[in-house]
Amino acid sequence: MKIVVLTGAGISAESGLKTFRDSNGLWEGHDVMQVATPEGFKNDAALVLEFYNQRRRQLLEVQPNNAHTALAQLEATHDVTIITQNVDDLHERAGSTAVIHLHGELLKVRSSVNAQYIVDWQQDVCVGDMCPNGHQLRPHIVWFGEAVPMLDVAIDHVESADALLIVGTSMQVYPAAGLVQYASNHAPIYFVDPKPSIDSSNRITVFAEKATTGVPKAIERLG
Ligand SMILES: NC(=O)c1ccc[n+]([C@@H]2O[C@H](COP(=O)([O-])OP(=O)(O)OC[C@H]3O[C@@H](n4cnc5c(N)ncnc54)[C@H](O)[C@@H]3O)[C@@H](O)[C@H]2O)c1
Repeated sequence: MKIVVLTGAGISAESGLKTFRDSNGLWEGHDVMQVATPEGFKNDAALVLEFYNQRRRQLLEVQPNNAHTALAQLEATHDVTIITQNVDDLHERAGSTAVIHLHGELLKVRSSVNAQYIVDWQQDVCVGDMCPNGHQLRPHIVWFGEAVPMLDVAIDHVESADALLIVGTSMQVYPAAGLVQYASNHAPIYFVDPKPSIDSSNRITVFAEKATTGVPKAIERLG
């Protein structure tokens, strides 16, 4: 059975990485329009780079939780693809092997001019850090207003899923939230979130609880 898992910031909350929709639209105290848009980067590159430097340092100090691990273990019995809105690498560290990052990755940087130049990066990035062609490096993050290059690949996976598991997302950030519409009518949907934005129905089973307890329950229901 092919299982496609859509994850959002909520799955990493119990690892210690805050969601921002739960904090009045602030991401670790910052206005997202300042730190997560191309305009914000143009206005104050040093502030934006430092914001992601902090997120990167924080990421290197936290660990995957039970929910990440349960999804990785699901690969032993099913064909599992994870489509995540998260920029952390906690799914990979838990052992998942097929992870699509819709919104980019904190542990990579790219050239601010040539989008094809993408490299692994664990250190801070500062104004003046350049790619080999002399252009400023920027976080490999899809900012609000930018295209989502992995979207078509993600749609193909959702279309061919036998079951969909959605974990820790407000389903408010498009185009990620629209992915569920591509699921086949025959595919059951399981949704885990302590403040679910979707109601249960014939097709959708909601587990209104945290990821670490809800994901193992949802997996049990998958059979
Ligand atoms: N860890 C990360 O990589 C990270 C963290 C924050 C924000 N972001 C970026 O910002 C975008 C939007 O972020 P957002 O925070 O508004 O996410 P979001 O809109 O997907 O909302 C977070 C959801 O997580 C749920 N949640 C909170 N605690 C939970 C728990 N313990 N278990 C399960 N669900 C829980 C909330 O009820 C909410 O529905 C993301 O798509 C991502 O690109 C990434």
